[in-house]
Amino acid sequence: MKPTVRRIGVLTSGGDAPGMNAAIRAVVRMALHLGIEVIGIRRGYHGLINGDFVKLDFESVSDISRRGGTMLYSARSKEFMTEAGQEKALATCKLLGLDALVGIGGDGTFNGLLALAKKGISVVGIPGTIDNDIACSTYTIGYDTACNTALESIDRLRDTMKSHERCSVVEVMGRHAGHLAMSVGLAVGATVVVMPEEHLDFEASVIEPIRCARLSGRTHFMVIVAEGVEGGACGVAQRIKEELVLDTRVTILGHVQRGGSPTSRDRIIATYMGHEAVKLLAEGKTCRVVAMDGEKVVDYDIAEALQMTKGLEQYGLEVMSDLTGIDVVL
Ligand code: F6P
Repeated sequence: MKPTVRRIGVLTSGGDAPGMNAAIRAVVRMALHLGIEVIGIRRGYHGLINGDFVKLDFESVSDISRRGGTMLYSARSKEFMTEAGQEKALATCKLLGLDALVGIGGDGTFNGLLALAKKGISVVGIPGTIDNDIACSTYTIGYDTACNTALESIDRLRDTMKSHERCSVVEVMGRHAGHLAMSVGLAVGATVVVMPEEHLDFEASVIEPIRCARLSGRTHFMVIVAEGVEGGACGVAQRIKEELVLDTRVTILGHVQRGGSPTSRDRIIATYMGHEAVKLLAEGKTCRVVAMDGEKVVDYDIAEALQMTKGLEQYGLEVMSDLTGIDVVL
């Protein structure tokens, strides 16, 4: 393969996700394999605007795959959303002699890449977010680790909820998406899962399943709520308390879900994606997003990818409905 690029930049932007380091490592190692230099841009687009960079070599990415967070730091840059900010970022690319940029993050990161592509930089995006809400990809880096972190905490919660015969209302991350809530709910065997995508009939989907579980002999209840649900876990807990007079406790798992050593799934997929991103750039391709289609690595045009939509996984919803008796209305 004859590379058409000589020096690429790599950055992580938006909310971090476990596995981002494995993706950075794969980008660097694949690039070096093809004789391409790599510059790490620190603090996402904020760093690109301010020329905050570090040269990455073989050794600088050694032993990072097992670490949570991102060695390049991350940020959400408001300035980069402006034309002036994008011009400054372009100036940094020119100053550093970057032919191409790999951006690891979510839709905001991909929008940023698109803006730079319009100014002549070759770009490839890699989906990294614990929310698994990138429409073009069935999987995003960090999702598996976040699910496992949440379920470990919820297993612990269940012990104490069971002893005290309480109702536990747990809020998991997901500002706009219920993928994490659904997976975690399935994994812990929740009584109820509430997701932002559904048209919630509170009586039918929350109160009645708890009542049914009580009638079946259960004396503790696990309710999983995605962060993006109106009122969040506190709102849901309040209504449960009012309507069922149950001893209820709220736990907001929050940013703990974004940390920790990535699972093997996150490390492997991140490694595939990082490898593929550099391969695409070396082949002279640009404006692409690397994605997973099941177990297969694929890629899409960024602009097209940003237009795609992704619903909750139908099969998971069906299983959940059969096991909890809740019909999720989307
Ligand atoms: O990265 C996605 C996410 O973790 C969402 O689930 C959450 O709503 C958001 O980021 C939190 O962002 P921040 O870290 O900026 O508070």
